[in-house]
Amino acid sequence: MTPTQKWPEQGWALLQLLLVASFSQAEEPVCMHKGDSENAPLSEDGDIMLGGILSFHSSWKDRQETYKHKPLPLECASLNFRDFQFAQAMIFAIEEINNSTELLPGISLGYKMYDTCGSVSRSVRVALALANDNEVVSAESETPCTRPAQVQAIMGDTSSSPCMAIATVIGPFHIPMISHFATCACLSDKTKYPSFLRTIPSDYYQSRALAQLVKHFGWTWVGAIRTNDDYGNNGMATFTEAAQQLGICLEYSVSFFRTDPPNKIRKTIDIVKASTSKVIVAFLSHMDMDVLIHVLSYYNLTGYQWVGSEGWIIDSQTAERDQHHILDGAIGLAIQKAHVSGMREFILDVKPLNKSGNKLFTEFWESLFSCKFNQSNSSAENQRECTGHEDLSELQHGFTDMSLMPIFNNVYKGVYAVAHALHNILGCNETCNYKMQLDPFTILQHTRNVHFKTKEGDEVYFNENGDPPANYEIVNWQPTERGIVDFVTVGRYDASLPADKQLSLQDKPLIWGQNLKKVPVSVCSEKCSPGTRKVLQKGKPVCCYDCIRCAEGEISNTTDSITCVRCHPEFWSNERRDACVKKESEFLSYEEIMGALLTAASLFGTCMTAVVALIFFRHRKTPIVRANNSELSFLLLFSLTLCFLCSLTFIGRPSEWSCMLRHTAFGITFVLCISCVLGKTMVVVMAFRASLPGSNVMKWFGPTQQRLSVLVFTLIQVLICILWLTISPPFPFKNFQVIKNKIILECALGSTLGFWAVLGYIGVLATFCFILAFLARKLPDNFNEAKFITFSMLIFCAVWITFIPAYVSSPGKFSVAVEIFAILASSFGLLICIFIPKCYIILRRPEKNTKKHVMAKGLTK
Ligand SMILES: *[C@@H]1O[C@H](CO)[C@@H](O)[C@H](O)[C@H]1NC(C)=O
Ligand SMILES: *[C@@H]1O[C@H](CO)[C@@H](O)[C@H](O)[C@H]1NC(C)=O
Ligand SMILES: *[C@@H]1O[C@H](CO)[C@@H](O)[C@H](O)[C@H]1NC(C)=O
Ligand SMILES: *[C@@H]1O[C@H](CO)[C@@H](O)[C@H](O)[C@H]1NC(C)=O
Ligand SMILES: *[C@@H]1O[C@H](CO)[C@@H](O)[C@H](O)[C@H]1NC(C)=O
Ligand SMILES: *[C@@H]1O[C@H](CO)[C@@H](O)[C@H](O)[C@H]1NC(C)=O
Ligand SMILES: *[C@@H]1O[C@H](CO)[C@@H](O)[C@H](O)[C@H]1NC(C)=O
Ligand SMILES: *[C@@H]1O[C@H](CO)[C@@H](O)[C@H](O)[C@H]1NC(C)=O
Repeated sequence: MTPTQKWPEQGWALLQLLLVASFSQAEEPVCMHKGDSENAPLSEDGDIMLGGILSFHSSWKDRQETYKHKPLPLECASLNFRDFQFAQAMIFAIEEINNSTELLPGISLGYKMYDTCGSVSRSVRVALALANDNEVVSAESETPCTRPAQVQAIMGDTSSSPCMAIATVIGPFHIPMISHFATCACLSDKTKYPSFLRTIPSDYYQSRALAQLVKHFGWTWVGAIRTNDDYGNNGMATFTEAAQQLGICLEYSVSFFRTDPPNKIRKTIDIVKASTSKVIVAFLSHMDMDVLIHVLSYYNLTGYQWVGSEGWIIDSQTAERDQHHILDGAIGLAIQKAHVSGMREFILDVKPLNKSGNKLFTEFWESLFSCKFNQSNSSAENQRECTGHEDLSELQHGFTDMSLMPIFNNVYKGVYAVAHALHNILGCNETCNYKMQLDPFTILQHTRNVHFKTKEGDEVYFNENGDPPANYEIVNWQPTERGIVDFVTVGRYDASLPADKQLSLQDKPLIWGQNLKKVPVSVCSEKCSPGTRKVLQKGKPVCCYDCIRCAEGEISNTTDSITCVRCHPEFWSNERRDACVKKESEFLSYEEIMGALLTAASLFGTCMTAVVALIFFRHRKTPIVRANNSELSFLLLFSLTLCFLCSLTFIGRPSEWSCMLRHTAFGITFVLCISCVLGKTMVVVMAFRASLPGSNVMKWFGPTQQRLSVLVFTLIQVLICILWLTISPPFPFKNFQVIKNKIILECALGSTLGFWAVLGYIGVLATFCFILAFLARKLPDNFNEAKFITFSMLIFCAVWITFIPAYVSSPGKFSVAVEIFAILASSFGLLICIFIPKCYIILRRPEKNTKKHVMAKGLTK
């Protein structure tokens, strides 16, 4: 014997220890059943027996236990017609196999079905009754205490929690147990529930499918209500996890159980009322949904979109109870629709159940037709008397509703799976091997490995966890004119496909909660439009956020963007912050006012210089012009013209040529200008010296030397400019830094040293000129030119000294304007100080324009 074969026997011994005790140690060990025996309300004998555990009642009467005497048996309440249907489906399958000549030929199957009343403790009790015979073994009999179980396999239970309890108890004995409706993912754990199999997919898949469904319709802010048992709690836990991964947030998640006190259920309603989400995911069994729908109707809680689990979504009794149409438009997952030929007729033919003449059938019949048998008393006068000949075919009742056919099919498949396993074990082929000893472990092994097709073409097999493949239909509650709800299949979910193809919705019109034609919206925060980004709210779930406008220069062009993207330096964000637009370029142009004014000033200066030159030319013979070297005066006027004109090169779009021209033209013309003034100053100084006795300085500073000095000074500047241009010339440059939303087109200096050398050289010459003129200002002269030169140099130096800080600190095109202004100001300064007084004398005081007057002190050329 291998250890695995030994196990069941050890298990049996254990069971005996648990349930059976000997009367006393002195006597022979005899098996004795302790406690009350359980009677199976529905049973039929056969060669091989199958057990059924169903809840023909859905709850029980609450009783205060005093713990002073043995608790009375549970008093069951609320007849549950669903499980009568399941029972009928099971009997149908058993009869079909019994009748079949192919499957288990010559072997009759029998059944024993017990009622759990939806109670976990009672389900354990009946499971043990099925595993262990109820028969009382008399002391005289020689029957050994270790006997095979009275049933070879158990069908049921309908709910997860009783299944877990039963599977835990019968697991060690390896009695196969096949549930048609227990979906809790926890039951897939084969270390805890080794003998548990099921014909309904695990909630592992359903919860994920529900999360995907919720995500599909864009509901990211949902509430959740669950049954407070293993089905609801485990299913909701998996849903919560899957939803979180898909970015769905739960506003609340509440649980209740149908036997909870009313104020507990009212609390649930208060939470729903206070919520802002419009979608409720309900992981409920149909029994809890029935309770909830009653309370919801009472409080008029409409306007929610319900998303349901398979527990209630195709339950027509729930739909019937929903008088206020609270659940209309609900969407959810259902087991794939199925049809088993002959099943409907069989289920509706309930009379054969009466053959044992039991109390349960009477209760069922009375409840089905709302009548009473044996109504001799006046207690319930308003109720009809049952005749026993009522016609089921005219009845509109939950029991006659076949919407749960997929579940009946699950029961049917479960029975067939066991039959196929038995067929294999018994080596059936025309006849079976009757002698074969059946043991539960072998049946379990074979049942787990069956793979067959039902007569309707459904493939039946179990995976390594004892679960069938996960296929669901997506069902929408669509109200019809008659006020009845249609469960319309609108899509499918197949867990065996790749993740993105699992959920597929057909192009059918959907009806939503409150008969809306549009998908309801249930979000904590509206989507962030392009141009904004999400910022999570502190202490709230990730679905709640604020939309913050992107900063300047940043954009987001998708909805629900998490970040804003910085634009390329040449681009800038538009007003809506959803696109980058090319920055405007800025430079000093002729079109704008500042450029036009400066141009006008420059042209005015040029004209003024030309007028002065004309006056000088017409009066070139007059002493005042002839004095102090008229040649230098004309050269000075010419260079001043150039100075005025060179300011124009600063205006307009910078190009490679205009950039190089700007500073060099400015540098050279100004040096030319200053060297002329310097020449004039020196002439004044020399002339005075020359007028002193015994001096012949003028010999050393005649016109030739003057021309030469002007040329040399200018050439030095030309040389500096050539060096600058060859080594590192100025170039046009796009400046993105100074003004954020504009590109400033400017001329980069190339070499800063070059620029400051050019400027510095002018400065040195000007300073030298100023010092000379300052020294010469007091020289006796009737028309003291040195005074005017000093004054003009003062203006010149003042202008350029203020220019430096203004230039450095002015942004963009203003620095160019400052430079132009400095050029114009200094040029006007020179022109006005040196030439205007002379013009005045020439034009207005010709009497002063005499040789005598000019040469008053004997100044001569
Ligand atoms: C199975 O068939 C046999 C006869 O073929 C019959 O006696 C027995 O009652 C049937 N069992 C069921 C459960 O229908
Ligand atoms: C089994 O056979 C009996 C007698 O032939 C018949 O009355 C019954 O309806 C059959 N059951 C099924 C489920 O086919
Ligand atoms: C519930 O709603 C119905 C119609 O929608 C209205 O007639 C009824 O008065 C409401 N009841 C309560 C308690 O608000
Ligand atoms: C009805 O009452 C009679 C006695 O009045 C009793 O014999 C019979 O068994 C009762 N029938 C049912 C179905 O309870
Ligand atoms: C009828 O009522 C009497 C008391 O009024 C009660 O003792 C008796 O058991 C009742 N019989 C039935 C059949 O309900
Ligand atoms: C059930 O069977 C009993 C006899 O066993 C009979 O009196 C009763 O009327 C039957 N009930 C129905 C609903 O047919
Ligand atoms: C079963 O019967 C078929 C013929 O009906 C035969 O060919 C086959 O060998 C048999 N198999 C066994 C295992 O007896
Ligand atoms: C969004 O911006 C990025 C980069 O700025 C670009 O590649 C993408 O095409 C834009 N998308 C849309 C929808 O405009």
